[in-house]
Amino acid sequence: MTETLLKVEDLRTYFSTEEGVVRAVDGISFELAPGERRGIVGESGSGKSVTAMSIMRLIEPPAGEIVTGTIEFRGENLLMLGDDEMQKIRGSKIAMIFQDPMTALNPVYTIGDQLMETIILHQGVSAAQARDLAIQALEDVQIPNPEGKLSEYPHQFSGGMRQRVMIAMGLSCNPDLLIADEPTTALDVTTQAQIMNLMLKLAAERDTAVLLITHDLGVVAGFCDTVQVMYAGGIVEFGTADEVFHNPQHPYTWGLLGSMTRLDEVHKKRLHSIAGAPPSVIDLPIGCRFKPRCEFAIDKCGKVLPMLQDVEGGSQRVACHRAEELDLKTFTVTDDEHEEVAS
Ligand SMILES: Nc1ncnc2c1ncn2[C@@H]1O[C@H](COP(=O)(O)OP(=O)(O)O)[C@@H](O)[C@H]1O
Ligand SMILES: [Mg+2]
Repeated sequence: MTETLLKVEDLRTYFSTEEGVVRAVDGISFELAPGERRGIVGESGSGKSVTAMSIMRLIEPPAGEIVTGTIEFRGENLLMLGDDEMQKIRGSKIAMIFQDPMTALNPVYTIGDQLMETIILHQGVSAAQARDLAIQALEDVQIPNPEGKLSEYPHQFSGGMRQRVMIAMGLSCNPDLLIADEPTTALDVTTQAQIMNLMLKLAAERDTAVLLITHDLGVVAGFCDTVQVMYAGGIVEFGTADEVFHNPQHPYTWGLLGSMTRLDEVHKKRLHSIAGAPPSVIDLPIGCRFKPRCEFAIDKCGKVLPMLQDVEGGSQRVACHRAEELDLKTFTVTDDEHEEVAS
């Protein structure tokens, strides 16, 4: 058995809204090893951010609630911790980087103050030591003239520089786990690549485990060890990046890849869009949640919710009643063949 850093079991996070109960995350289980880099992919609304927020315990009651499940971090169930204990873990053991750094940076304090505050809070060092560490942290994320930048305010930084600060802040206390939720989506393409490379390089150097939520399949293919595919609050496929991209088992994954199974092509790809829309997570269909959009669906798919099952050989897992019969890997897209496999 390999060591486990994070173990999520049957996590369900719901929101009460006027329209009804939103089952944003609805029974997901997964494990992460120390230093493992996991990509989380899936269309908008599939529960990726709520998964991340649940781990960080940032779900706000009374509307939002983790209704059941466990989130074990180094063997300790985070859901049982008091707020103070959880606060200590946030930032020091588990850090999170959000899509928009302005939501996490306070506009009225200098970059230096905010960075030093985090460092003092989590490392208990003196102000002078914190200052040195803050300069070092900015240098690590390749911010020019780090000492001079300490006295500047967030609005004086570009979007890319602010995200570098967030990475510096996130990694300054050497967390065991870094959760990054579409950290570069708001940036221009060139800056996106630079920041993503920097973040993943720093995490790799420090052996920090990463949960990376992204639309960029190329980043997942290039930097993640493993990938989990989410759909309507559930995990529909899991495996090494190689397994999932070379040999997708779930029709949804296959759709996301845009029928593309050559890894060199995956490198250039973002998520492909699939015909139809995900179901409302207020009125989830009985059975497989992907069924209404699935060209391979059979009767059973509308009746029984498929569970994640091991795929023979390797570490891949898939939640699809038809995965065993379908060979999506060798499936080439012509309309005739679609019908052939679907019939
Ligand atoms: N605070 C909230 N109140 C009500 N519904 C929410 C809230 N946060 C998220 N949701 C809903 O939960 C579902 C999953 O959202 P999210 O995890 O943000 O998706 P994504 O995969 O795009 O990150 C969506 O249907 C979303 O509308
Ligand atoms: Mg999100």
